[in-house]
Amino acid sequence: MTSAPPHALTNGHADHPLVKLVTRKRFAADPEYVHSCRSATDQGADLPVDFLFLTDSDARNPEPVFAQLRWGGQAILLSDSREAIGTAAEAFVHWRGGAGWALEQPPATLQKLPAILRFLGLRTRAYYCIVRKLALIPPGNTSDRFTYHVSLARPAKAAAASGDLAALAAARSEGGGYEVVKQVPATERVVARLREKFPEADGETLTRRAKKFTEKIFPVFLTRETAILRLLARDLPQRFHHRVPRLIDAQADANGFTRTLRMNWLRNGCPIGNSAGGGNAVGGQPLTQLAFARQAAELLAALHDDAHVMHLDLRLDNVVITQHGVGFVDFGSAVRVGENFPEASLLGNLFEEMMRTSQIQRMLGRMSETGEVTSEDICRCYGKIDKAVDFFYLAVQINNPHANPDLRGLVTVDKGSDEARELAALTAKILRPEDPANPPFKSARDIFTGILEIEKKLTRKSAP
Ligand SMILES: Nc1ncnc2c1ncn2[C@@H]1O[C@H](COP(=O)(O)OP(=O)(O)OP(=O)(O)O)[C@@H](O)[C@H]1O
Ligand SMILES: [Mg+2]
Repeated sequence: MTSAPPHALTNGHADHPLVKLVTRKRFAADPEYVHSCRSATDQGADLPVDFLFLTDSDARNPEPVFAQLRWGGQAILLSDSREAIGTAAEAFVHWRGGAGWALEQPPATLQKLPAILRFLGLRTRAYYCIVRKLALIPPGNTSDRFTYHVSLARPAKAAAASGDLAALAAARSEGGGYEVVKQVPATERVVARLREKFPEADGETLTRRAKKFTEKIFPVFLTRETAILRLLARDLPQRFHHRVPRLIDAQADANGFTRTLRMNWLRNGCPIGNSAGGGNAVGGQPLTQLAFARQAAELLAALHDDAHVMHLDLRLDNVVITQHGVGFVDFGSAVRVGENFPEASLLGNLFEEMMRTSQIQRMLGRMSETGEVTSEDICRCYGKIDKAVDFFYLAVQINNPHANPDLRGLVTVDKGSDEARELAALTAKILRPEDPANPPFKSARDIFTGILEIEKKLTRKSAP
């Protein structure tokens, strides 16, 4: 591999001697660095990266650096001044109350010259430290994209001690040994979010409502998610196991409801096997849009037909692209096929409300009204818990994977390409079939087959 990292990771200082030095000494054999997805950054696009090298001429301000890094990405701070590195490390670690970054490498010395020259008394030292982005959004901010408190963390000691060593080793090389911790958010965070939505409501009402979420509703859903992850580990065919979260540990409250869930980190990156063509692209290449669509449809078919689970919240925020291909996370709203909720029960009411108000259901309602969806199999699932909710949304999303900014750079989308046109035509056939009462696409498996046919057609077309 080359000793200088790509231009985009270094703000243009790829040839800076400290950048080259730290890359050679620290990262040349680091599996995270070697496998990170840098092909997209070579295109010069303004995309989040997994590694960012910052020298004295860059602002070492946590705020903009946070925005430039992917979740779990690392910033390498370099300077000739020990003091400057110490101050920068403090600024990151204490940023916004302290939950945003981990100090991956405390300030340390880099020897610039070989020992023999040092012996001659030449000034040789430089300093560096490494910080890793742990939070999904800047601590203290609210976001419409996420509900729970989700963060990266080192494995809990107990879990590591009792854990499966092979799984731990794999996690270490893929994700630096980090896990995902999903927790019921603090009541104050929920109050802050509700206040943004209902600015005229009084504090007492907001707190009462927030408590209902944090004490009842969220723990109920997190407990369900725990059970669904166990079920996937049992019933999803082995070859898909790397593409859904693996439950590591669930901590329950006094009533037995999960408040904290630990799972493995399905890290966004380039799939293995999509090997790079050379240059600085040490990691893999992005997926094509067609491969993205095929993998998502195949996983959904396995989820429905083999694990007998409906996801019901397949927004692109809940889709990841891992080293093993497209994956799904967030099984908090998932339901087993055939599962029934008594009408007036807490769960019955919650699901009833969710099926009226969720983003997917609202879109379906709108699109059925305007005639953009006519397939009776899909229209029928409006307001209902049904597999069609998942494949309706899959059919829409495969045309626009970049709607999730985290997937930009990991999947190529060219609106004018044959594959984009074929996928758009497929979506049209799924949503508005010639005979709405008898649509040709009635399942995720049908969509998967349709995508395979497109692949065959385009391969024939491109064959000499
Ligand atoms: N195991 C995981 N591996 C990789 N990324 C994950 C994992 N779990 C969660 N994430 C990331 O964290 C984000 C938030 O987690 P999750 O979707 O589970 O909760 P949420 O979005 O708060 O829940 P909801 O969708 O109900 O609002 C996801 O969109 C995804 O980007
Ligand atoms: Mg989510």
